[in-house]
Amino acid sequence: MHGTMSKAKDERLRAAREKAYSMPLADFHPGAPKLFADDTLWPYFERLRAEEPVHFCTTCPVGDYWSVTKYNDIMHVDTNPAIFSSDVKLGGISLRDVTDDYSWPSFIAMDEPKHGPQRKTVQPMFTPAPLDKMALLIRERSAEILDNLPRNETFNWVERVSVELTTQMLATLFDFPWEDRRKLTRWSDLATALPKSGIYESEEARLKELGECADYFIGLWNERVNSPPTGDLISMMAHSDATRHMTRDELLGNLILLIVGGNDTTRNSMTGSVLALNENPDQYDKLRANHTLVESMVPEVIRWQTPLAHMRRTALQDTELGGKTIKKGDRVVMWYVSGNRDSDVIEDADSFIIDRARPRTHMSFGFGIHRCVGMRLADLQLKIIWEEILKRFDNIEVVGEPKRVYSSFVKGYETLPVRINA
Ligand code: HEM
Repeated sequence: MHGTMSKAKDERLRAAREKAYSMPLADFHPGAPKLFADDTLWPYFERLRAEEPVHFCTTCPVGDYWSVTKYNDIMHVDTNPAIFSSDVKLGGISLRDVTDDYSWPSFIAMDEPKHGPQRKTVQPMFTPAPLDKMALLIRERSAEILDNLPRNETFNWVERVSVELTTQMLATLFDFPWEDRRKLTRWSDLATALPKSGIYESEEARLKELGECADYFIGLWNERVNSPPTGDLISMMAHSDATRHMTRDELLGNLILLIVGGNDTTRNSMTGSVLALNENPDQYDKLRANHTLVESMVPEVIRWQTPLAHMRRTALQDTELGGKTIKKGDRVVMWYVSGNRDSDVIEDADSFIIDRARPRTHMSFGFGIHRCVGMRLADLQLKIIWEEILKRFDNIEVVGEPKRVYSSFVKGYETLPVRINA
């Protein structure tokens, strides 16, 4: 990256560190989206891990919350669903409560016994046989996207590669009309956007667009429920006992879950990988010298990026954690982004190292009953895109600062300017 840019970044991080270390812990609000948009979150989490690993925030505009920042404490919360609920009616799975007019339930935001059967419906899509079939398509489509990239000019990697490829994969998973596939990207962006993100004009406009999304999918659903089963996700849900009788809201909730699950996260890992290699040129050199390192680089990128910075739970009873008493009804935020930097569990956790001994020791996919159902597909997409990139380009050069998403939930990028020299 250009020297002046990294200097500006160093200066920004230095100022953030000074601020984080001079502020009383009682004033900490580590979930402020601005920290994520500016990439200044790190010293806050570093201090919390060291000084108050289970911390209560009382200064957040959307309500008080606990932050859990150490790897093993996060694991405890994630693997005790009888104490820590994901239920949308209690607020759901992100720091900001789900409001009543946006209550589209999906199985990520359900507890047992409802969650399990719904999850099982889509799980077969992510097993070896369908994934092998999908790998062929992914490789073909990646090759085409990469072959059409401009040379010797600056372009936005997010738009030209990450969004395009993940959107194509989603269209494949849903067997969604190809020419309309960009609608999937738009709906995903809308589903997770915060009011200040600039992605939509008003809450009314957002709900109207999401209503169009529901109508579109209901059209596809009606076609498929009346036809013999095919292998796509909509058909699978339309023909499964656990999901066939879903209400319109439940259908919409589950579809949005699959769109968001498969879209933002993989997209941001693809962008993150280009950025991480540019910020760590010694690692890029290692990769150029040995392409088989893609295998261990992929989980390392997913750790380094942590595409979903947190998942939230609500306490169903009073409980102890890290010497603190969490009260029934309290919001509990598991900061995967911080657990992934916990040096008590991950050696040299702040460094990006593509040939780590145990690269899969990370929290980015969560743990327990909600552990990411699409993780194999995510790994596969990233592996293939990097194998194809290495066949073609010696260097993808980042030529400017990325613009980061204004959110402490989806941790990602709106733009990343790059250049490929012929
Ligand atoms: C790098 C990419 C990805 C990351 C980092 C990621 C991360 C996560 C996380 C953190 C959870 C919640 C775990 C918990 O609450 O404990 C989750 C659940 C889920 N993910 Fe992913 N995900 C990725 C890719 C995908 C893909 C490609 C799909 C599907 C197309 C997908 C679909 C889902 C679904 C359906 C759930 C809900 C599972 C449940 O509640 O049982 N994800 N993911």
